[in-house]
Amino acid sequence: MKFYIATDHAGYAVKAFVKEYIRSLGHEIIDLGPDSADRVDYPDYAHKCAKAVIADEGSFGIVICGTGIGISIAANKVQGIRAALCHDAYTAAMSRAHNDANILAFGERVVGKGVIESIIDAFCNTEFEGGRHSGRVGKIEEGFSFGSDLG
Ligand code: RB5
Repeated sequence: MKFYIATDHAGYAVKAFVKEYIRSLGHEIIDLGPDSADRVDYPDYAHKCAKAVIADEGSFGIVICGTGIGISIAANKVQGIRAALCHDAYTAAMSRAHNDANILAFGERVVGKGVIESIIDAFCNTEFEGGRHSGRVGKIEEGFSFGSDLG
């Protein structure tokens, strides 16, 4: 698999560990920054990763901030991105099996290295099941336009 990774300052410290682990599994990982722990805005790095994943068909992303919340919300604003915030192996596996997630998000302040390894293993070892899930993912990709139905 090919991954792009981006963090904010609160996800920076664990990034080297994640890159090394992904490479130890035989996958490729490209670092989109930042290059230091200086304070940055997580939407900027979410968008860098999201755009790289969309531009490189079949690739995946990993985004990390303090909680994983802000950076996953921001990544999901990019059309075609399905970023899943996962803090356990079960949800990481299901994010691939049912949601065809193309970005894995988690919070450096939330999970330790052992859990991170198990999340990455689950994400990498699970295929999208397709079938009934394809239509649902298709509906996500169609988007929603709220107009008169909001009253
Ligand atoms: C930075 O302090 C923190 O707000 C950010 O990393 C993230 O947790 C936001 O969702």
